[in-house]
Amino acid sequence: MLEIKDLTIRYGNFLAVNGVSLKIGQGQITALIGPNGAGKSSIVRAIGGLNSFESGQVSFLNENLSSIKPHLRIVKGLSIVPEGRGLFPRMSVEENLMMGAYSLQNTTLFQDLMDRNFALFPILKERRHQLVGTMSGGQQQMVAVAVGLMSDPKLCIFDEPSLGLAPIVIEQIGEALISLKKQDLTVFLVEQNASLTTKVADQIYVLSAGEVKFHDTPANLMNNKEVLETFLSA
Ligand SMILES: Nc1ncnc2c1ncn2[C@@H]1O[C@H](COP(=O)(O)OP(=O)(O)OP(=O)(O)O)[C@@H](O)[C@H]1O
Ligand SMILES: [Mg+2]
Repeated sequence: MLEIKDLTIRYGNFLAVNGVSLKIGQGQITALIGPNGAGKSSIVRAIGGLNSFESGQVSFLNENLSSIKPHLRIVKGLSIVPEGRGLFPRMSVEENLMMGAYSLQNTTLFQDLMDRNFALFPILKERRHQLVGTMSGGQQQMVAVAVGLMSDPKLCIFDEPSLGLAPIVIEQIGEALISLKKQDLTVFLVEQNASLTTKVADQIYVLSAGEVKFHDTPANLMNNKEVLETFLSA
């Protein structure tokens, strides 16, 4: 569904991403894991068109994204839930969800998307009039996931959804991702948390110092002590 070929990103002289290639298969959960500063968010921003890159190619549904402006990528079915969630704290849950739907072409889908989100996270229905800034971190992350789904994406990218959350909430986010996959959403999960990714992903890329060091199934990653110890300090 999405393919990155030989992507290189520099900030000044600093090489943040060095020749990364990866494929996100339709209907799968593909994970990218790596430590702090590995270059994960740089890759996510490049996919979204928010980072320029030195060389390489990103294609989505067999179309090169280079000529497609960021806001039109959303219309094509590419949604990103950014690191730090990107919510409007002084707006209610419902208002944040409406913001997520701004690019929706088929507005008759709006209510259906709201209902699907409330079925995924029932607490959001109860709290739909609450200001997002007054909610717990876990609930805010649920809002962020829900906002990302309001554009009715084919592929949704989640940048570190587990950051700062309690294990029980991380588990709920993981269950939500599995349920979204069952509803035919393709997921790209970007994480530092190896335990979440190995539970939900179909394939995992390990990124360190801007390079892909390993690519295989979660089971094979768990059996590879060397990769775990060298790159994931597990
Ligand atoms: N705008 C920028 N200008 C300069 N350097 C940057 C910029 N953005 C990121 N970097 C550097 O590039 C490297 C990769 O950053 P990036 O945010 O992509 O990593 P990450 O894997 O997402 O890390 P984290 O897990 O902490 O979110 C880091 O060393 C970071 O300091
Ligand atoms: Mg990051």
